[in-house]
Amino acid sequence: MDANITENQIGKIIVSEEKIRRKVNETGKMIADKYRGKPLLLVSILKGAFIFLADLCRAIDIPCEIGFMCAQSYYNGTSSSGIVNITMDLEQDVSNYHVIIVEDIIDTGRTISDVKKLLAARKPLSLKVVTLLDKPDRRVVPLEADLSLFTVPDLFLIGYGLDCGEKFRNLPYIAEYKG
Ligand code: IMP
Ligand code: MG
Repeated sequence: MDANITENQIGKIIVSEEKIRRKVNETGKMIADKYRGKPLLLVSILKGAFIFLADLCRAIDIPCEIGFMCAQSYYNGTSSSGIVNITMDLEQDVSNYHVIIVEDIIDTGRTISDVKKLLAARKPLSLKVVTLLDKPDRRVVPLEADLSLFTVPDLFLIGYGLDCGEKFRNLPYIAEYKG
C-alpha cells in the first residue's frame, strides 16, 4: 500500500500522547494504592488493549500479574458485528486474584459485558473494569466501567492500540479515522 494514502486517513488528534501519558500514570498510582498487599491480575483484552496494558502496568509500582484474552466484536471495518467471540482464554485461575479487566474502548458495551460475565462466573476475589476510552453515545448494553480515562465522541478512532482493518495500532496518540 502507498504510505501516503495511509497517512491521509489519519484525522484530527482526539487524545494526545502527553494527555495519555499523564492520565495512564495517574491511574497506575491509584491502582497501586488501592491494591497494595493484594494479589492483583490485570487482564487485557487483545488486541486493542495491548499498548494501554503495557503502559499501565509499568505505572503500577506493586507486584502484579498480567493475563491475556482475545475477544473480537469487530471484523475488519467500522461497524459492530454484534457477536463477541472469545478466541483465546486466560491461563490463570482467577479465583486467586483481584482482577482488573483492562480494555481499550467501550463502545456498544457488548465485549466487556460478556467478558465480565465470563470472569465473574469464575469467582475472582474482586472484579473491576478499567477502560482507556469510553464512547457512551454508542452504548447498546447498559454497562459502566469502574474507571474510564477519557470520554470520547461517537467517531471511529485509531491509534494507541486501536485499529482500522489491523492498521494504525502503532500511532502513539488517538486520532479520528478519515475513511
Ligand atoms: P463493544 O463490544 O462494541 O463495546 O466494542 C468494543 C471493541 O470494539 C473495542 O475493544 C475495540 O476493539 C472495538 N472498537 C470500538 N470502537 C472502536 C473505534 O472507534 N476504533 C477502533 N476499534 C473500536
Ligand atoms: Mg478491544
